[in-house]
Amino acid sequence: MERLQKVMAEAGVASRRASEKLIAAGRVTVNGKTVTQQGVKVTKNDQVAVDGVPIKHEPLKYFLLNKPRGVISSAHDDKGRRTVVDILKEDGVEERIYPVGRLDYDTTGILLLTNDGDLANKLMHPKFEVEKTYIAKVRGVLTNREMKQLRQGVMVDGRKTKPAKTKLLEAADDWQSSRVRLTIHEGRYHQVKRMLKAVGHPVMKLHRETYDTLNLVGLPSGGQWRELRPQEVKKLKNLV
Ligand code: URA
Repeated sequence: MERLQKVMAEAGVASRRASEKLIAAGRVTVNGKTVTQQGVKVTKNDQVAVDGVPIKHEPLKYFLLNKPRGVISSAHDDKGRRTVVDILKEDGVEERIYPVGRLDYDTTGILLLTNDGDLANKLMHPKFEVEKTYIAKVRGVLTNREMKQLRQGVMVDGRKTKPAKTKLLEAADDWQSSRVRLTIHEGRYHQVKRMLKAVGHPVMKLHRETYDTLNLVGLPSGGQWRELRPQEVKKLKNLV
C-alpha cells in the first residue's frame, strides 16, 4: 500500500505536492470514485485516474547518459530538435522517461534520466543539494582572486551563489584560455556559465563530469548510456 500522491508522483503525473493539489481539486479518481481526502492508500491493482485518464504503472527505470553536444535536455522539443530522450528511444527504451534537470544544448556530460517522477522531483529540489562537478574551458586564465570569488559566491541575478569548490586544471600555452573544475550544489539556469562570466571568463565549452557519486567511467562520449545498478539507485534514494 502506498499513499496516493506518492503513486501519482512515481507515475510521473506531477510532484507529490502538486499531486496533493490535484487530489484536493477533485480531479483524481480511485477505481472510478473521486477522492479529495489526503493520505488515501492504494495498491498497484487500484485504478487511479487524473481527469479521467488512467495513470500508467511502468516499471521504474534509471539511466545514465553521456550527453553529446547539440541535443536538447527534455522529452520533447517544439522545434523538432533531437532530445536526450530520443537517444534512448532510438536504442529501444520504451518507458516514458525524462531528464533529471537540464544540461544546455551545447553542454556535454553526465545526465540522469528516469520515469521515477518522485525521485526526479526530489533530486531537482535545491534543498537536497546534489553535488555536481563541471569542467569548463574558459576564455583567459583565472587568477587566484577570481577562483576565491567563485568559491565564496558571486552575484548571479542579484543573488549570491552558494559556496563552490574550484580547481584550475591547466592554462593554454598562449594564455588565451584555461580549463577549470567547478563543483556546485545548486542548479540555477545557466549557473556555471553565469558564474564564470561574472568573474570575467566566458565559457567556451562545458562538460559535466559527476552527479553525486555517479561518473562517466565506462561511458566514453557522445550519447553512450547505461542503466543504473540497483545499489546506485539506492544511494540516490538515500540522498533525498
Ligand atoms: N550550468 C550551465 O551554465 N550550463 C549547463 O548546461 C549546466 C550548468
